[in-house]
Amino acid sequence: MWNLRILIYTGKGGVGKTSVSVATAMKCADRGMRTIVMSTDSAHSLSDSTEVTIGNTITKIAPNLDGLEIDILKELEDNWNEIRTYIFSFFASQGMDEISAKEMAIFPGMEFIAALFYLDRFNRNDEYDIVVIDTAPTADTLRLLSFPDVADWYFQRFYGVLKSFVKVARATVGHVLSFPLPTNEAMKEFEKFNMRIRDVRDLLINPEITSVRLVTNPEKMVINETMRAYTYLSLYNLTVEALVVNRVYDKNAKNADPKKLREQDVYLRMIDEIFEPLKKFYAHQYTLEVVGSDATRRLADELFGNTDPSAIYSKENPMKITSKGGTTTIRLKVPFATTDQLELYTKRDAIIVDVGQYRRTIALPLGLYGRSVSSAEISNGVLAIRFKEELYATKKGKRTARGTKEGDS
Ligand SMILES: Nc1ncnc2c1ncn2[C@@H]1O[C@H](COP(=O)(O)OP(=O)(O)OP(=O)(O)O)[C@@H](O)[C@H]1O
Ligand SMILES: [Mg+2]
Repeated sequence: MWNLRILIYTGKGGVGKTSVSVATAMKCADRGMRTIVMSTDSAHSLSDSTEVTIGNTITKIAPNLDGLEIDILKELEDNWNEIRTYIFSFFASQGMDEISAKEMAIFPGMEFIAALFYLDRFNRNDEYDIVVIDTAPTADTLRLLSFPDVADWYFQRFYGVLKSFVKVARATVGHVLSFPLPTNEAMKEFEKFNMRIRDVRDLLINPEITSVRLVTNPEKMVINETMRAYTYLSLYNLTVEALVVNRVYDKNAKNADPKKLREQDVYLRMIDEIFEPLKKFYAHQYTLEVVGSDATRRLADELFGNTDPSAIYSKENPMKITSKGGTTTIRLKVPFATTDQLELYTKRDAIIVDVGQYRRTIALPLGLYGRSVSSAEISNGVLAIRFKEELYATKKGKRTARGTKEGDS
């Protein structure tokens, strides 16, 4: 049984992510859950939405409800000095100019670590029951959510190389390396970093804890982006659990535009068909902005009524690995993607899947190291990657015998 629930709202710019995040958090708090609403968008708007000044420290908004607008640069300075200093001096010692070396020390997506490590902290300290995350528009959020995968891969290799250098260099008296060795503190920080990144990834891909909810509007362009986001989130192993359809025009409004309503009906039906069987929450387009606690509670009531906004509507994990006989298959939900958008690269210990402009590195379980892929195809929104049967499993005796012979000679 898990205590923490993480609800991540994401979607295209302006669809209502911040309003829906605050509404969800407020209702959770009203129902007695210890709640925090946290924004990872550098253009923060939690303060505007709640009419409470929230900064880069945890701020009380209402009973049971805190807010936090993460200042990514400040968090980096506070927490990652040791590692940054080392990576910088490493590249500088390789003859790189100072400015480029400084840039290298912030690797892609590193600015998101701060946001992710708050989750780790909240989980460890049992500070909250609910964390609602209001995110930046889709592209940035996908980078944030794919970060643990990328960082784990990157750091494992970088750290592995460093560790063997340190071992050799410390044992070789008089041997001078062309770059500075990391201090023990830096090595410890690397190790700690790696472990925490893995913990965060475990939180994010656990559907009992983390749900991603896509916010959309009944409009063509918005629906298109929502579909793309769904594909990429599944590719990163996140559970898209529900859809929030915001800004639905009221049919009974006095000056409702009949043409607009007809158009909207088409899009609402489209949303129904495309996102079946996802749970959907609906909210109307209001005449006024959703600002302050009254308007926000009204939005929350429309979305959730008397139900628990943190209820889990789907626990299906988008990636599954199965083994039957000698054949192993990785199945990945990639809704709406087609085989012609797909590119696959294999490495010894990983498979790289490109769908359009997004990339997912799937670290392989040990048993699949070095195995070649026999087929990869997308059908009904599921990518199936099949691995060739392991040769030495059937010819094991023969191989071992020959290996021994060669080793003896
Ligand atoms: N259902 C609604 N009816 C009327 N106004 C709304 C509704 N939902 C959101 N708004 C208003 O629309 C504006 C944009 O909403 P919001 O800030 O929640 O969107 P966002 O997706 O967070 O935007 P951004 O991508 O810029 O972060 C705000 O002024 C908000 O008050
Ligand atoms: Mg916003």
